[in-house]
Amino acid sequence: MNKLSVRHLIGIRGLCENDIELIFQAAKEFKEVINRPIKKVPSLRDLTIANLFFENSTRTRLSFELAQKRLSADVVSFSAGSSSVKKGETLVDTVNNILAMKVDLVVMRHPHPGAPQFLANKVDTIIVNAGDGTHEHPTQALLDAFSLQEKLGTLVNKNIAIIGDIRHSRVAISNILCLKLLGANVRVCGPKTLIPKHIQSMGVTVSHNLDETLAWCDVANMLRIQQERQESQGVSYFPSLREYASSFGLNKARLDKLDNEIVIMHPGPINRGVEITSDVADSQHAIILDQVENGVAVRMAVLYLLASMQ
Ligand code: NCD
Repeated sequence: MNKLSVRHLIGIRGLCENDIELIFQAAKEFKEVINRPIKKVPSLRDLTIANLFFENSTRTRLSFELAQKRLSADVVSFSAGSSSVKKGETLVDTVNNILAMKVDLVVMRHPHPGAPQFLANKVDTIIVNAGDGTHEHPTQALLDAFSLQEKLGTLVNKNIAIIGDIRHSRVAISNILCLKLLGANVRVCGPKTLIPKHIQSMGVTVSHNLDETLAWCDVANMLRIQQERQESQGVSYFPSLREYASSFGLNKARLDKLDNEIVIMHPGPINRGVEITSDVADSQHAIILDQVENGVAVRMAVLYLLASMQ
């Protein structure tokens, strides 16, 4: 099959292994394109894309915009802070207005889980989820898995640890689904309060001990504490950031104790000194900037494949 099995990219849930292979194959080709002196191809010349960001973002939004421009699409973007959403307009009305301006594809980020699916049911356009609350962030998981395959060859039977605020992380959910589909063993690690009770039903193991987890894994994906989501609930999940860092922060002393070298990842934005120290984030074991570079190629692949289903 050389076509995706889905019309929208709402989540990794719903994709099959063949979809992921297709995306990675296209991403490899697009990565070559963006490393040429002329980084642009005309593939989406006839397409108009709207980026609707109802929640803050820097790198995901830039990455999508660059991907779209490299494919020669016409692009319009808005963020909620400067839009009529603040004046009480509903999500469907906002989007219908944009679609009346003849937009073919919408990339959206929204604080509410399920918002992209809701929209896909209501409007006749392709929807790409750029992160919906604590639910899914499919392009992040795809670019993470693509970066790991590039580094490790295959993910089959590789031990991958996702460490930190699992409870509030759409990156964790999408990564677990994607890595499991590609045959990896996945473990989540963090304080008990930041790991949801049902997580084992996703086929992962759970640990509350970072040093033990580091000794087990080939890859450590360090996640940010989602303080904005914790604060909005008025709840504190651990005593202090300092205490969190001493139990669950990755630092050089911890890495030096290991027998094997491990690959270190982070989706960004990094809180240096909390989940990861600067020397580790900037070390040669970290593939954080490869993730960013691959993000553009993987998003080009997703947009290209979805648009060619029309
Ligand atoms: C992640 C996100 O927004 O979910 N970041 C990103 O997409 N670059 C992770 C995070 O915010 O910690």
